[in-house]
Amino acid sequence: MGILPIRIFGDPVLRLETTPVTDFGPTLQKLIDDMRATMDGARGVGLAAPQVGRTERVAVIKVKKAEHVLVNPEIVEREGTIKWEEGCLSIPELYGEVTRARRVVVQALDRNGDPFEIEGTELLGVCMQHEIDHLHGKLFIDHLSFLKRQKLLALWEIERVKYPNLVRIAAPIDGDKEHDRHDDERL
Ligand code: NI
Repeated sequence: MGILPIRIFGDPVLRLETTPVTDFGPTLQKLIDDMRATMDGARGVGLAAPQVGRTERVAVIKVKKAEHVLVNPEIVEREGTIKWEEGCLSIPELYGEVTRARRVVVQALDRNGDPFEIEGTELLGVCMQHEIDHLHGKLFIDHLSFLKRQKLLALWEIERVKYPNLVRIAAPIDGDKEHDRHDDERL
């Protein structure tokens, strides 16, 4: 498994609609394994294919040590609302409170193409909604009010200079001294 460069806000690939997966061969298997390694390396709880520059409709999630591979996921049920402070591996250091469905049911295919259904609330539910957004070119900042979004974009003007090539490479997971306050919100 290899760690892939993570694409940063401003890279047009993050705004592309993805293509449903029909081929579950070695290319997909490698992509999934590389995405898992990249998510772990970046200490994220979720990662979608556009974040590594790909347009397959695939996301990986790891919440409370439970890992899920979602191929062609679709939300089939939504219930209630919940506010959650979200961040994104593609928009480092920026966080914003997003209103999401409190509970969702998602239908997807696993890495072998077999269908399954998964229900999520709290972080898992939020994470699935965030990653499925990514698969349709949508970012968490799109959910913020105009004023909140303007505020974050102003902060981003300062942060973005750290990523002149619009990529970041996840640091190795061991010995990472980075602050961990927001560990649960990196999606
Ligand atoms: Ni994200």
